[in-house]
Amino acid sequence: MTPQHLLSVADLGPEGIDEVLRLADTFVEVGRRPIPRVPALRGKTVASAFFEDSTRTRLSFEAAAKRLSADVMTFTSSSSSLNKGESLRDTVLTLEAMGVDAFVIRHSCAGVPAQVAGWLESAGAASAAAGPGGAGGTGGTSGTSGAGGAGGASAVTGPRGASVLNAGDGAHEHPTQALLDCFTISRERERRFGHSPARPAVLSGLRIAIVGDIRHSRVARSNVIAFSTLGASVTLVAPPTLLPPSLCGWPVEVSHDMDGVVAKSDVVYLLRLQSERMNEQFLPSLREYTATFGLTAERARLLGPSALVMHPGPVRRGIEIAAEVADSPCSVITTQVANGVAVRMAVLYLLLGSGAQVGA
Ligand code: CP
Repeated sequence: MTPQHLLSVADLGPEGIDEVLRLADTFVEVGRRPIPRVPALRGKTVASAFFEDSTRTRLSFEAAAKRLSADVMTFTSSSSSLNKGESLRDTVLTLEAMGVDAFVIRHSCAGVPAQVAGWLESAGAASAAAGPGGAGGTGGTSGTSGAGGAGGASAVTGPRGASVLNAGDGAHEHPTQALLDCFTISRERERRFGHSPARPAVLSGLRIAIVGDIRHSRVARSNVIAFSTLGASVTLVAPPTLLPPSLCGWPVEVSHDMDGVVAKSDVVYLLRLQSERMNEQFLPSLREYTATFGLTAERARLLGPSALVMHPGPVRRGIEIAAEVADSPCSVITTQVANGVAVRMAVLYLLLGSGAQVGA
């Protein structure tokens, strides 16, 4: 994590991930209170700007911001002035002029959150150069943010400017999904099996299999980085057509033997076939995919007694995972969702609340 944005889980390093996960423990406790709210981000405004469909990530970021007492603005692209020809840059800078402190951005194109962060930083630099009463942080889209004459990176958001949190960009990254998955594995193993590692975030020695459509998955990319950063051994299991064209530099093993991997894994992490990102035929048939790579009820009998089954959602029951396996005790799919709120509270707090850097 840079001091200002969360664009990739790779920015965090082991210390940064550990810091987020330790803070998330505190926010899990807050979530159990009769009134699950703290004043940590009172006066801050978080905009959720989702240009691609979402249930879990959008609602959990919004719940997290509200539990921290931030104001939440929900931007809906389908009913916005984007439809009148306004550019994405002008849209973002217009929202910033209204006093947004953090943008939570999902987009179908890889790199959009980083691009938005760059626009915000450039606008802030232009505002700072203009000085008090200058053009403001909107890049000329609106003059309102310069009116206060703060003379910083942005007259509205102050010298740090607005933060950007990547809520999933194309097939690139989904950093908060990886953080909540690390949190879930660590804390669920501790809760179930009494593991009490000295450093709670460490997944050292665990064998984690990520199964399915790796090629189109931002979750797989962020999780490979996060799991390996915390010391786990990661095996990708997929048909050759659903692996990335190159795995050069990926700290993983690859297998096509689903039965063998399931039998020896501590965590089996299933992915959805992302048909919205497929522009050609990658599989002979869904039936064959399920038979070879699905976690069927029969295959789930190979799981070890302490194995966890995970999925980022949305789940397509009967394809990558059988319904009865998704609902079985080894599945922590709903725990992942619940933990997502606390982990996103931690990330928002670290970026907006304390202003502290995370990691090195
Ligand atoms: N896991 C995940 O990103 O789910 P949504 O697409 O529903 O946000």
